[in-house]
Amino acid sequence: MTPTEHSLASLTITRPDDWHLHLRDGAAMAAVLPATARQFARAIVMPNLRPPITSAAAAAAYRGRILAALPAGSDFTPLMTIYLTDSLAADEIARAAEAGVVAVKLYPAGATTHSDAGVTDIRHTWPVLEAMQRAGLPLLVHGEVTDPAVDIFDREAVFIDRVMVPLRRDFPELKVVFEHITTKEAAQYVAQAGAHTAATITAHHLLYNRNAIFLGGLRPHYYCLPVLKRELHRQALVAAATSGSDRFFLGTDSAPHAAALKEASVCGAGCFTALSALELYAEAFEAAGALAQLEGFASHHGPAFYGLPRNLGTVTLARQAWALPETLAFGETVLKPLRGGETLAWRQLD
Ligand code: NCD
Ligand code: ZN
Repeated sequence: MTPTEHSLASLTITRPDDWHLHLRDGAAMAAVLPATARQFARAIVMPNLRPPITSAAAAAAYRGRILAALPAGSDFTPLMTIYLTDSLAADEIARAAEAGVVAVKLYPAGATTHSDAGVTDIRHTWPVLEAMQRAGLPLLVHGEVTDPAVDIFDREAVFIDRVMVPLRRDFPELKVVFEHITTKEAAQYVAQAGAHTAATITAHHLLYNRNAIFLGGLRPHYYCLPVLKRELHRQALVAAATSGSDRFFLGTDSAPHAAALKEASVCGAGCFTALSALELYAEAFEAAGALAQLEGFASHHGPAFYGLPRNLGTVTLARQAWALPETLAFGETVLKPLRGGETLAWRQLD
């Protein structure tokens, strides 16, 4: 940490965007949306609802529900995605682009929460990928193989060799975002893969290694997919995020699950960080002595990759201790934020 950072009392940056977010739907969405709309100007909204958002019409209807649930006076734009399946028709891509959909999400079938309708073999989707490459619509990839023979901690690294490398070779002009990367292999791959490949990185993967899941007992709120990895991987992610490279940008992967479904014999994958996402990123960047790189990562690199303008206006984070609430109402139930009940060092000012 430099002496100037040590004494930095506040940090003002261009309004940031969240390039990977789960909002859910209905009362659950209404419960979590205000937190994101307060911190971010835009967010890429993941389509893994039940049933998934697999058409331009469904994405437009979902956008309408999000806009209707926004608190009065908030200035927030949801950026919609559709969910790639083995049977998505290639001509849906033109309709999606027309409807303002900004990207298509690839979930390998069975890889994560609500991915059962996902792709069983990427070769089934070639006509769609060709149409996306033509239309300039990015592919957002959950980069983990689902082969049960592959150790869960290796699924991302194996995905690079089995899927990413062939995909880049076959569709060199397709824009691809390797979502929520968790390994040094993925960080290295993206850094050398050329201008059409980028990655999002979550705050929790910058702050924690896999020990966090097991600290003094099993901690379900630290369980997400791709799962937290070893410390050397966390360090590689911090190096990538703070490198200044415009190919790495902010994506919280904030993924709310009711507390009862996290604290259960089978715990759903996902960490809810939307209440304090910027504060958590600031903590990670400060620990790396790299607060000066936060603005690029949070506010500049994402729009550049997606070909969108930067936001107008700013947000300010102050060094001001505050306690993150332990729970949040979540429809009929409650939600527990990551680090709920703990004191955070940074606080976004209203
Ligand atoms: C996400 C969810 O809950 O929808 N869960 C997660 O652990 N990240 C899905 C995903 O992004 O993998
Ligand atoms: Zn996600």
